[in-house]
Amino acid sequence: MVEYHVLSHHDLPSALRWQMLSAMRIQWPGVFSGDNRLSTHVCDEELHPTYVLAEQEGVLISFATVTWRELEHAGQMLSVYGLGDVFTFPPFRGEGYARHVVARATDHIRATDGDLGCLFCEPWLEALYVRSGWEAISPGITLIGTAADRRPFEKLRMMVFLSKRGENARAALSTVPLFVGDPW
Ligand SMILES: CC(C)(COP(=O)(O)OP(=O)(O)OC[C@H]1O[C@@H](n2cnc3c(N)ncnc32)[C@H](O)[C@@H]1OP(=O)(O)O)[C@@H](O)C(=O)NCCC(=O)NCCS
Repeated sequence: MVEYHVLSHHDLPSALRWQMLSAMRIQWPGVFSGDNRLSTHVCDEELHPTYVLAEQEGVLISFATVTWRELEHAGQMLSVYGLGDVFTFPPFRGEGYARHVVARATDHIRATDGDLGCLFCEPWLEALYVRSGWEAISPGITLIGTAADRRPFEKLRMMVFLSKRGENARAALSTVPLFVGDPW
């Protein structure tokens, strides 16, 4: 039977961490370049990661990572939970595992005291996230890079609005570019 787990950084078993890492090296090779070429970290601990996993008999089927950061936008600080690293191993695709993982990750985000959830995806994956209540932000320009060298990020930005402060920022989040530094 497939089991779902929501785990903190320290509770992630090594065997599952290595499977995550192998998938990430294949799917997102750019992350493992330069100083990170031999990285064995699935996520920086300072981002307070939570891992949502579907697993059967120790075999990792699908996963996603939730991270936290504070972002300054339109003159105020917002507590933002990011959903990223959504991945299903190819033999298990099209069977609804990512949908379930995203639903559990979204439940986790909704249970926090954050202001917003935020993810980036290709436009053709919008429906996957809409099912869990995420909204595509339009025009929703996102800027990445360093504070001194910001450039547009071409992916679709999707968000969930958690707090009153997040809800109040809704209009500005579509019209005023959001600078996120390193995207997730
Ligand atoms: C995208 C990915 C996570 C989907 O995983 P999955 O377990 O096969 O997805 P599910 O079976 O749960 O599908 C859920 C929904 O996702 C969408 N979806 C999944 N694969 C899709 C595809 N190839 N094209 C279009 N939509 C797709 C559909 O809306 C689907 O809804 P449906 O059940 O009504 O058809 C998987 O293909 C993958 O790991 N891809 C590589 C990594 C990646 O691109 N991650 C996304 C980062 S934003």
